[in-house]
Amino acid sequence: MTPASLTQEPQSVSSAVTRSAFFIVLSVNEDAASRAAVRAWCADVGNLVRAVGKRVPAGNLSCVVGFSSDAWDTLFGEPRPAELHPFREFGKGERVAVATPGDILLHIRADETDLCFELATQLMKKLDGAVTTEDEVHGFRNFDMRAMIGFVDGTENPTGNEAVHFTVIGENEDPDFCGGSYVLVQKYLHDMKGWNALPVEAQEHIIGRTKLQDIELDEDVKPSWSHSSLTTLDDADGNEIKILRDNMPFGRPGSGEFGTYFIGYARSPAPIEQMLENMFVGLPPGNYDRLLDFSRAVTGGLFFVPSQPLLEALADHEPGAAATIDTPDASAPDTQTETAAANADGSLAIGSLKGAPRYE
Ligand code: HEM
Repeated sequence: MTPASLTQEPQSVSSAVTRSAFFIVLSVNEDAASRAAVRAWCADVGNLVRAVGKRVPAGNLSCVVGFSSDAWDTLFGEPRPAELHPFREFGKGERVAVATPGDILLHIRADETDLCFELATQLMKKLDGAVTTEDEVHGFRNFDMRAMIGFVDGTENPTGNEAVHFTVIGENEDPDFCGGSYVLVQKYLHDMKGWNALPVEAQEHIIGRTKLQDIELDEDVKPSWSHSSLTTLDDADGNEIKILRDNMPFGRPGSGEFGTYFIGYARSPAPIEQMLENMFVGLPPGNYDRLLDFSRAVTGGLFFVPSQPLLEALADHEPGAAATIDTPDASAPDTQTETAAANADGSLAIGSLKGAPRYE
C-alpha cells in the first residue's frame, strides 16, 4: 500500500496541533443553482483562508474541505475517488456508530477562536442559500491535550513524513485523486457522571494508558478490550497501520453537555472502519471498547478530501463533463507556490506539506 509518487499538494490535513477547531457539516440544497454555487465556492476556499490567515500571521489558520459519496456524485460525477462510499454503520442496540446526513465537512483549525470564527463566517457567506447546516461544533484544546475524559489524546499520532505516508493518497494508488485523503468524523456525548465515578485504575484499563503521565500500560496489564488495544492495527506483514486524529473536546457545562468530536484522516477509509468495528462490535465480537459504555456516537460521516489543486479545479467540473479533471501541473508556478510563500511567514497551513519528501 505504499504510494509511488505524490505530485498534488494535499490540503492542510496534517496541520499543526491548534488550540481551537470548528467542525461544520453541511447539506447541499437540492437545486441546480445551489450545486453550481457550491462548485464555484471550491475555487474560493484557498483565497479565503489566505485572506483571513494573513490577519494573524502566527495563528496557524487552516481549513480542510471534504465531500461525502452522494455529494460527490451530484456535484461532480465522474471520475470519483476509488474508496469513497456512504458512512458504514457498526454495532447494534445501545452501541451503534450511527450514520447521519451531511454532504460537506469543513474542518477549520487555528490557535485562536476568532480566526476560526471569521473564516467560518466568510466561507458560509459565499454558500448563503446553497447549503443547510446539519451540525456545527466548536472544539477547544483542553490543557495539555486532555480529552474530555481527562486522558491525553493524540499521543500515538504519526508525525512528519509518517503522517503524510498514512494520510495522503499516492499517484500509483488512485491516480486521479493523488494528494487526497479520506476523513471520518463522529460526534460523541459522554456520561461524565458515570465516567468520573470510576476509579482511575478502571479508567486506565479502559484507555490502556496511565491517566496522569500518559504512559501505555504493560501488555500483561492492558485488557484486550482497552481502547488502545482495539484501535491498534497491523497489516499482513505485521507493520502498524496508523491514522491521524485531531479530536477536540466541546460542550456546554450549563446544559450538562460534554463531548468529544472525533476526526480521523487516512489514505483509505478501511483502517478507520476496522477500528470502528473493533470498538463497536468487538474483537472478537463482544469484546468491545468499554469507553462506549460512557460515550454515545450521535453523528457519523465519511468524506473525501481532494488535493488543494483538485479542490480548485472542481469548480469547473460538473456531472457529465469530461471523464478527467484538469488540475494545474504540480511543477508549474501557480497557487501552490503562492501558498508555500504565504506559509513561510506562518500565516496559514494549506501547503504545509510542501517540502516534505515525496514517495518515490
Ligand atoms: C469518545 C471518543 C474518543 C475518545 C475520547 C478517544 C480518546 C483516546 C485516547 C485518550 C487515546 C490515547 C492517547 C493517544 O494515543 O491518542 C486514544 C488513542 C487512540 N484512538 Fe481514540 N478516542 C475516541 C474515539 C476514537 C475512534 C472513534 C477511533 C477510531 C475509529 C479512535 C482511534 C484511536 C487510535 C488509533 C488511538 C491510538 C492507539 C494506539 O496506538 O495506542 N479513537 N484515543
